Amino acid sequence: MSHISTVTVAGSSWQESDAGLIAVGVYKDQSLTPLAQEVDKAIGGLITQGINLKDIKGKIGQSHFFYAEGKMIAVLGLGQRDKVDSNSIRLAAGAAARAAISRKVRSMAVECFCSGLDSCQPMGEGLVLGSYQFLDYKTKDEEKFELDSAAVMGCDSDEIAKGTEIAKAVCFSRDLANHPGNVTTPTRLADAAREISDEAGMNLTVFDRKEFTEMGMGGLAGVAQGTDEPPKFIVLEYFGTDKEKQPKVLVGKGLTFDAGGISIKPASKMDEMKYDMCGSATVLGVFKAMAALKPKINVVGIVPSTENLVGAKAYKPGDILTAYNGKTIEVLNTDAEGRLILADGLSYASKHYEPEFILDFATLTGAVLVALGHIATGIMGTDDELVNRIKKSSENVGEKVWEFPLWPEFCKQIQSKIADVKNIGAPRQAGTIAGGAFLKEFVGENIPWVHFDIAGTAWGVKPDSCNPKGSATGVAIRLVLDLLDV
Ligand code: BES
Ligand code: MN
Ligand code: ZN
Repeated sequence: MSHISTVTVAGSSWQESDAGLIAVGVYKDQSLTPLAQEVDKAIGGLITQGINLKDIKGKIGQSHFFYAEGKMIAVLGLGQRDKVDSNSIRLAAGAAARAAISRKVRSMAVECFCSGLDSCQPMGEGLVLGSYQFLDYKTKDEEKFELDSAAVMGCDSDEIAKGTEIAKAVCFSRDLANHPGNVTTPTRLADAAREISDEAGMNLTVFDRKEFTEMGMGGLAGVAQGTDEPPKFIVLEYFGTDKEKQPKVLVGKGLTFDAGGISIKPASKMDEMKYDMCGSATVLGVFKAMAALKPKINVVGIVPSTENLVGAKAYKPGDILTAYNGKTIEVLNTDAEGRLILADGLSYASKHYEPEFILDFATLTGAVLVALGHIATGIMGTDDELVNRIKKSSENVGEKVWEFPLWPEFCKQIQSKIADVKNIGAPRQAGTIAGGAFLKEFVGENIPWVHFDIAGTAWGVKPDSCNPKGSATGVAIRLVLDLLDV
């Protein structure tokens, strides 16, 4: 774990700041932010010279360094002045943190760039996200430089604190996913849920192999047959308001390593299948943020978790499993395992709660990468109003989603000849929709439900100041928190 844990709010005198690096801004139209103007004066117009020489362009992601009053000064590109929004501010704040880390400066202060926005929250988010590094397995000190503290000059402190907590929850989720499969095991996910529930007095129930098998969770039990690593079915309940109020339920795929099972995957990039628990990391990340922010809502988190390996008792193509809702599933490919464990998660949610809605998060299909690349999360569901609210939140937080149709023609493709359903659709066709169509079978009648296929967005995205290279992203946590109005 490495990221700053608090962001302080300081006055707006950069000379009096004791930070080692001061970050100020320049727009694409060559205009300077107020503090950048002050600094420019103090250093004899060197920033203006850089602009006139067309070296400083004000583009998002660009940074230039100067020296004044014994400190380093970073001049950050803020993009087009009339296009400044929460996304560009988050990226600028992230760039400020990255600038300090790149210059090996332990403390930094950044000008509030939020004027014109309705909240300073993205500034708090960006500073923490930008400071995130995954260094746990580096043993050489020179490879472990960390930023200790960040201050913002002139922002609203409550909004900064909120942004900080949300980003810390995203970092928590990234850490769970970045640790390898021999560390982030189902047991570790259950322990993480325990830490969160202890923090805020939530209810936690963890069913082990024997328990969930006896309860009839044939999907999870089937997938878990191939591994000796103890599988878990994790249920986390947060009641922030009247217990009678219907909860919103979040279900996350917690597949801590996916070798494909007997339908084994090719060796290339198989290591990346440690990330196959990113859906559960999204759910736990949302709960981590709720533990800190204590919203007045009821939310239940459900994480079925196991590895998908090839042990002697592993389930096999052709096997028929019975899910928690009683439906039978013909397994035609053991690598389509995420939907099998989610079948039990969705059935459990539908049976034991009267959900206002259910959302599920899963690195479910390689096909979503073919369709949307690493750019957008694929979504599909049963309720247009809920889908539209998700699209709105997606825009609010800058995490792209794209809807696929769950038309009856697609839903027919997962009907089995000998069981109720089969776990794959038509060969090489609409694989992401087949996954969604399968999951739909396990959601109770009339419960609004939306599925998020995050296989393209949970890791592997183009790095930027808020998303380091080679790290899980913690995708959809900010989107869900916006949707839940946390
Ligand atoms: N976890 C994988 C999906 C995946 C693959 C995510 C590659 C990211 C990159 C999932 O369990 C899986 O293997 N899905 C199969 C389904 C198929 C057999 C119907 C797939 O996408 O190949
Ligand atoms: Mn798989
Ligand atoms: Zn998988």
